[in-house]
Amino acid sequence: MATQMKVGIGTPLSRVDGRDKVTGAAKYAAEYAVPDMLYGVIVSSAIAKGKITGFDDAAARSVPGVVEILSHENRPKEAWFDHSYKDELNIPGEPFKALHDETIMFSGQPVALVLAETFEAARYAANLLSVQYENEVHNIDFEKSLEEKFLPKKKRNTYHPPKTRGEPDAAFEASALQLSETYHLAPEHHNPMEMHASTVEWHGDGKITVYDKTQGSQGVQAYIASAFGFSKKDVRVVNAYVGGGFGSGLRPQYQVQLAVLAAKKLERSVRVVMTRQQMFTHAHRPECTYGIKLGAETTGMFTSIYGDATTSTSRFENNMEDIVTWGIMNYASPNAGGEYTIAPRDTYTSADMRAPGAATGMALFEIAVDEMAYKAKVDPLEFRMINYSEIDAMNELPFTSKALREAYREGADKFGWSKRTPEPRSMTEGKELIGWGVATGMWDAQFSKTAASAKLTANGHLEVATAASDIGTGTYTVLTQVAADTLGLPVDQITAKLGDSDLPTSPVEGGSWGAASGGAAVQLACQAVAKKLLKAADKVENRPLWGAKSIEDIEFADGHMSLKSDVTKRVSITDVMRAADLTVIEEEETASPGISGMISMMQKARNTHSAVFVEVKVDEELDVVRVTRVVNAVAAGRIINPKTARSQILGGVVMGIGMALHEETFADVKLGRWINHNYAEYHVPANADIQDIEVIFVDEPDPEVTPLGVKGLGEIGIVGTAAAVANAIYHATGKRVRSLPITIDKLL
Ligand code: MOS
Repeated sequence: MATQMKVGIGTPLSRVDGRDKVTGAAKYAAEYAVPDMLYGVIVSSAIAKGKITGFDDAAARSVPGVVEILSHENRPKEAWFDHSYKDELNIPGEPFKALHDETIMFSGQPVALVLAETFEAARYAANLLSVQYENEVHNIDFEKSLEEKFLPKKKRNTYHPPKTRGEPDAAFEASALQLSETYHLAPEHHNPMEMHASTVEWHGDGKITVYDKTQGSQGVQAYIASAFGFSKKDVRVVNAYVGGGFGSGLRPQYQVQLAVLAAKKLERSVRVVMTRQQMFTHAHRPECTYGIKLGAETTGMFTSIYGDATTSTSRFENNMEDIVTWGIMNYASPNAGGEYTIAPRDTYTSADMRAPGAATGMALFEIAVDEMAYKAKVDPLEFRMINYSEIDAMNELPFTSKALREAYREGADKFGWSKRTPEPRSMTEGKELIGWGVATGMWDAQFSKTAASAKLTANGHLEVATAASDIGTGTYTVLTQVAADTLGLPVDQITAKLGDSDLPTSPVEGGSWGAASGGAAVQLACQAVAKKLLKAADKVENRPLWGAKSIEDIEFADGHMSLKSDVTKRVSITDVMRAADLTVIEEEETASPGISGMISMMQKARNTHSAVFVEVKVDEELDVVRVTRVVNAVAAGRIINPKTARSQILGGVVMGIGMALHEETFADVKLGRWINHNYAEYHVPANADIQDIEVIFVDEPDPEVTPLGVKGLGEIGIVGTAAAVANAIYHATGKRVRSLPITIDKLL
C-alpha cells in the first residue's frame, strides 16, 4: 500500500481554526459569558499633565445599576505593584500603574473606573462623572522634546547599541559622493481589530480566571500574581484567540489591571474593554527622526555610513528601539557607526509595533540608500549588490544563512525590474507617472525557550499543547503541521491547544520567534512520544519493527510506523497502542536555545532578509499615489506553511503601504492629545488601496538557525516595504520625500 503524502511541514494547509473564527465559535476576551458580572467603563483624563484635585460623582452614582466608582482615592490598598514581570517571559517595559495617585501624565490616562450591572449604565455614569484637574505645562511636540533627548543609563535588555568600525567621520569628509539628510517617521497607533479587553471571573474560592486580550497568557498571570498578591496557581489567564496584536499586547495593559482591581474589591466578576478612542491614547510606534550621512566612491561603493536617530518615549518610561544598527549591519562599508537617543514627551509610552526598530530604521535608511544610488548613477538594485555584505558587518559575524542575493534576483525577475528606465519621470501611462522602487528588509530570526506537551490516546488522536498565543499569525495551524510531520498523523486527528496559562511554559508571542520556538517544542514532545511508541512496538506480534535502533530508523506516515530500510515492515500506531495495552502516552519537553545542534547564539548572526519591489502610479494633476504592484521576495529559512506564511507577508506589506502613505497620528500640541483618535481620521490602507501583491520565498536551507530551520515571518513583511514605496514615488515624480507617510500635501 502506497503511503499518502504527509500534511506536514511545507504543506499549504488552511487554518485549522479558520472555521471557528468565521462562524463565531472562537471566543475572544470580551465574549466569555460569566455569571453575575459587572461592567467596568474607564474614564480617561481630559488633560495631558497635572493633578486630579477632586471628583463630583453624585450624578454618576445615582444612575440605577451603578455599583462602585473606583479612583486613586478609594482603590483598595492591597493593590500594590512591582516591576518583576519584565524579567519573565520576555515582556518588555514596566507596568503603568492606573489609579495610582492624583498625578496625570498623559491625555487619556485612566482616572476612574465606573462599575455597573449593565454596560449601558456604566457608560452613561462614566459620562456623568465630573473630574476636577489642576493643569501643568505639558509638551507632546516631538520637535520640542528633542531638546531633552538623552540615552538612559539603564538600557532595555533588547536594546543593541550601534558599534563603530573604522572612522566614519573622516571617511565621510574624504568621500567623492556625500549624502547628509534627515528622515522622519510619524507616530502610528497599534489598532488591532480586537481592542484591549479583560473578563475576570471571580470564583469565590480565592481563584480567578482572566480572559484577556494579550500576546502572552503567562506574562499576564505573572503580572497579576505579583501586582495583587495572588499565588500564581490561583490565577489562570486564557487568550485562546487574539484579534491581532502587533506588539500592543506584549505587555499587560491597564484594562486587565483595572478589571482585577475591581473584581478583588467587589468580589465579583468584572469585564473591562477599552474603547477604540482609548486604544488611540496608549500603545503607539515611536515617532522618529533619523539623520543619515553616507559617503561613497563614484563607483557606488560605500566608504562611510553614519546614523543618528532619536525616537519618542514618555516621561515615565524609557522605550528604546534599535534604529541605526540595521544599516550598519546590512552593508559592507569599511567605516560605519551611529548614535541613538530617546526624547520624552507627555504621552503614554511608545511601544514595540511590528518589527520595532527595523520597520522604522530600515525604511528610512533604505530611502537614503536609494538617494545615494542616484548620486552614483547606479541602478538602485545594482547599488545594493555592490555593497552586499556576506556577514553581519556591524558585529562581524557570519550568518547562519543569508539568501538576500537570491531574493534580489528572484524578486527582480518576477517584477520585471530589467525593463525599468532609470530617470525619474521617464515612465508614464496616460496621465499617470509610473515609478518602480526597491528596498531591502532585515529582521531577527529569534528563538525563545518554549515548552510543549504531546498526548497520544489509544484511538490515535494527538493533542499538542503550549501556552503560546496565536495572535492571528497561524500558530495553531503550523504547530498542528509540525506534530503531523513528526508522528505521521492526519491533521484531523490532531488538536493544538494554545492560549492558556495552565499549559506548558511559553513566552509572549512576539519577535517572530513563535513558529521556530513553539515548533521546536512540539517536535521534541512528539519525538518523545515516538520513542515510547517504538518501545511499545516490541509488544506487537512478530515485532515488525525489529531492528530499529532509534526513531531515526522509523518512518512515521499515514498513521503508521514503518522501517525506513524496509517499508513493507509496518504497523499502525493504534495497533501499537493496543498491543502494548496503552490508553495514553503523554510527554512534555522544553526547547531551549542550544538544543539539536543549534550553535551558540554568540557565534553567528541569525536574520531574515527581504527584497521588496514596488510599482506606483501617480496622478500628475491630483498627486494621488496608487501602489499597483508589490513583489516581496523573502529569505526566511524553512517555510512550514506556504499559505499562512504568505498571509503574514501580505499583512506586513499592507501595513508597510500604510506606513508609506497613510498611517499618522497627529499631535494637538496645545491640548496635549492625539487629534485623530478614530478610524475615520486615522487612515490605514483600505481594500481599494491594495492591488497586486506577490510573495516569493527563496530557498534558504538553514540547519543551524533553529531546530526546524525555521526563521519566523511575522515581522519581516513590513520591513523595507515603506521604503520601496517611497523610492518608487521618487522614480515616478522626481520628488524625494524624506518624511513618512507620504501624504498628498508632501507631493504638491
Ligand atoms: Mo511584536 S512588536 O514582537 O508583537
